[in-house]
Amino acid sequence: MTANTPRTTAPQGARQIAKIFKAASQAEGAGALVHRTIGNHALSVLDPFLLLDEFELKADRRSPGFPDHPHRGFETVTYMFSGTMTHRDNAGNAGTIGPGEVQWMTAGKGLVHSETPDYATGDVHGMQLWVNLPAKDKMIAPRYQDIPLGDIVDVAGDGYTAKLIAGELGGQTGPVTDIAVAPLYADITLTGTADVHLPVGATRTAFLYGIAGDVQTKGGAVAPRALAVMTDGDTIAVSGAAGTRFLLVAAEPIGEPVARYGPFVMTTREEIIQAVEDFKNGRL
Ligand code: CO
Repeated sequence: MTANTPRTTAPQGARQIAKIFKAASQAEGAGALVHRTIGNHALSVLDPFLLLDEFELKADRRSPGFPDHPHRGFETVTYMFSGTMTHRDNAGNAGTIGPGEVQWMTAGKGLVHSETPDYATGDVHGMQLWVNLPAKDKMIAPRYQDIPLGDIVDVAGDGYTAKLIAGELGGQTGPVTDIAVAPLYADITLTGTADVHLPVGATRTAFLYGIAGDVQTKGGAVAPRALAVMTDGDTIAVSGAAGTRFLLVAAEPIGEPVARYGPFVMTTREEIIQAVEDFKNGRL
């Protein structure tokens, strides 16, 4: 950039690590262990992301997982690494997702559901991300996008392969559509053959989450079960050994207040009180 280059409102160039958050492990649901990086004391919200859990359910314990519980005001994105999980809600919707599959659930005005593991193939392991909805969409009707394995888009890029769930990468578009915050969600594995430049859009919030190996990026390395919040910029440059695997997630920030109480995420305290009342009275 020269001194004469006009400034753009959105910063261009490669992002660097703003801060790394290591997952904190805790019990969740009925017998689940979660490794949480967003939704903690250390990082309560990363607008528009509200929570990120890597969950594990051990086959030898056969715990029920996540029995009936409500949601209102946001979206839950479940991505399976291994095992299967069956979802059932109080409106009669049901679906099962297995390894490599995704459910993008827009809870909207609310539902009560269970997420039940099936231990037939061993341990159950995956990720759950919570994505906020803008205030205008918080009370929309619930909607499900269950993405079977065959609909996940395989991307073969220069120096990487990716499973693309949402957004655009390597000239392709992921199967999840019509989400307010225009998300990019990709599971990326490095081939170790080239430095990789991943376009993320200059205005989005972006993070890397380590799955296997150390992802080298500007400002440091991201280990498994650590989340790197990235600074502004329009790309993320990464490198690492062959087999290094991580999630790249980005989305437009919403910029509205977050009022939160457990599984209810609204914009005001009054709306939270209403959500609790509605749940107690069977109106979700
Ligand atoms: Co749930």
